[in-house]
Amino acid sequence: MKSFILMSVVLGAAGMLAGCASVKTADFDDIKCYTLKNKAGTTIKITNYGATVTSIVTADRTGTMADIALGYNDVSGYMNAVDKPYFGAIVGRYGNRIAKGKFSIDGEEYELATNNGENHLHGGVIGFDKVVWDAEIVEKNAVKFSYLAKDGEEGYPGNLQMAVTYTLTEENELRIDYLATTDKKTPVNLTNHTYFNLKGEGEGTILDHELMINASGMTPVDSGLIPTGKIAPVKGTPFDFTTAKAIGRDIATKNQQLKNGLGYDHNWVLNKGGKAGQMTLAATVYEPTSGRFMEVFTEEPGIQFYCGNFLGGNLKGKAGKTYVHRGGFCLETQHYPDSPNQPAFPSTILVPDDEYKTSTMYKFSIK
Ligand code: BGC
Repeated sequence: MKSFILMSVVLGAAGMLAGCASVKTADFDDIKCYTLKNKAGTTIKITNYGATVTSIVTADRTGTMADIALGYNDVSGYMNAVDKPYFGAIVGRYGNRIAKGKFSIDGEEYELATNNGENHLHGGVIGFDKVVWDAEIVEKNAVKFSYLAKDGEEGYPGNLQMAVTYTLTEENELRIDYLATTDKKTPVNLTNHTYFNLKGEGEGTILDHELMINASGMTPVDSGLIPTGKIAPVKGTPFDFTTAKAIGRDIATKNQQLKNGLGYDHNWVLNKGGKAGQMTLAATVYEPTSGRFMEVFTEEPGIQFYCGNFLGGNLKGKAGKTYVHRGGFCLETQHYPDSPNQPAFPSTILVPDDEYKTSTMYKFSIK
């Protein structure tokens, strides 16, 4: 068994190596960590294991820096994650769930790995979060990760060639550009699975964060979190985030959908989403004590808001602090769950000669 220290690569303005967590691994010798840093001092670390964002350090309103992304110090944390939180990773080939791991294209049925009860979640047993991507520095503060998912991997048809480029701008935006092509028709739904806590990772729950989701509808789910196929209006329900409110405000309300999700773990249908080539505002989050504010822009038609219901207090974060129940939230820009089995939902089938091309941006500021 060999183990070694993760090689760090610093991009951007910084002269100093920002000390990418030392990562020891017995299995891979090509895992690297890239540090993006802009003039404001925002520092983002990304590893090619799962094309995973491992750290996002931003200033609060007093100028104090904190890491607002949940994660591990060591790549073995990502590899062995028992409770499978998918911290910071690119998930796919199909982010979110596919009912019973089955779908058909042109009359041919495909069977995927089932890894979430009877359903398929986030690409299966070895999804894109658990593979080593090739990495290439493409410009100042931009790193491109590429991966070829082979025909048949986790049951999916087609060789899928992907590129995911992370860029940190001087406007304090983390931009994620996704690109993929295939040689057979296949479902594709990529997203990033960063958990945020705008107070800082390990600093308690996110229930007091104020969330706005630019969506008047959501896709109701059954108890296995599979959409029923309907789009339900959020008005008058705990799912109405059209005006910013604390995440915890209505979370304890008696509501069958909240029961099914064990809290918020649902897909919202974005009012302005789904425009190819045009990112629109999907969500904002404000944390009152630190003043940190985050905006999410996307071309995707939906967003999964997941409030860390499965974080259970048994996991210690990068600074050694426990990640409590609801100690982080994800805003996963995406197509709706189980779209391959839902003809009324926007299609997720990529065809040869076409391109999967979509962008999402997280913008950090203070108020
Ligand atoms: C899903 C949750 C799941 C979490 C971690 C989220 O995207 O919606 O149900 O527990 O990922 O796997």
